[in-house]
Amino acid sequence: MGAVLLDGKGLSREIEDDLKNRVGKLNNEGIEPHLAVILVGDDPASHVYVRNKENACKRTGIKSTKIILPASTSEKEVLDLIEEMNEDDDIHGILVQSPTPKQINELEITNKINPAKDVDGFHPQNLGKLVQGDTDGLLPCTPAGIMKLLIHAKIKLEGKKVTVIGRSRIVGMPLSLMLAQKGVDATVTITHSRSKNIDKICQSSDVIIAAVGRPEFVKKEWIRNSSVVVDVGISRVLDKSTGKNKLVGDVEEAAMEVASHMTPVPGGVGPMTIAMLLTNTVVSATKNST
Ligand code: GUN
Repeated sequence: MGAVLLDGKGLSREIEDDLKNRVGKLNNEGIEPHLAVILVGDDPASHVYVRNKENACKRTGIKSTKIILPASTSEKEVLDLIEEMNEDDDIHGILVQSPTPKQINELEITNKINPAKDVDGFHPQNLGKLVQGDTDGLLPCTPAGIMKLLIHAKIKLEGKKVTVIGRSRIVGMPLSLMLAQKGVDATVTITHSRSKNIDKICQSSDVIIAAVGRPEFVKKEWIRNSSVVVDVGISRVLDKSTGKNKLVGDVEEAAMEVASHMTPVPGGVGPMTIAMLLTNTVVSATKNST
């Protein structure tokens, strides 16, 4: 039997419908939620991601401003631009697309963003709240989207063995905190590039979340019957059988044959990340305008 699909696209559209109503109500109060996105350089994947964010803003009535800067832009120029946006009361959310060119230190950028406008949820103040068990603030979008998807599908997490593959500041680390928090109560194992026997660890897990950014890193044989698989990766690879490019995740598609639930790629985690970004922007507009 094949896995039940965890349909991020479908759930994200439901969230967007709700947001559209909330944006309409804010508009009636004279508030126009506004997201500013800064993109430095010409990484093609980042341009696609930013365009997807813009389109989602349009669908929900959120104003978006995109600022594209050349790859040679200095860190100081980006910091100065953030400073201006921090001061601008019309902007409720600021996001600098990652990765940035190497002369720009992403932590400096994150630290500069006003925590109240940090719709990525990466500012130390927002991450610190998460460590303290306070999940009312602006939460990192991909982890928050994964939690929503699992909860919506009624996946039991309490006492379950959850393995997170990848320890990035964007996904793996904050997600592990969310899974282990009181009220969710999963038993979390974080694995990474130095971990040994990841296959064995996965084989004894109830839930596997792959966020390594390596195409088809997780094999079907690592998945035991009836475990839940969340695939955060998305990579473009050459399909040898057709000679064309195709999109694949961090998990072999064949894992669908054994998992009980699995996210598709595309259409799983990606749309949920965007839905959470829009949610954070609306939350920020609501909090900062009253
Ligand atoms: N690049 C890939 N994912 C993200 C994200 O969630 N936020 C930002 N700013 N950049 C990203």
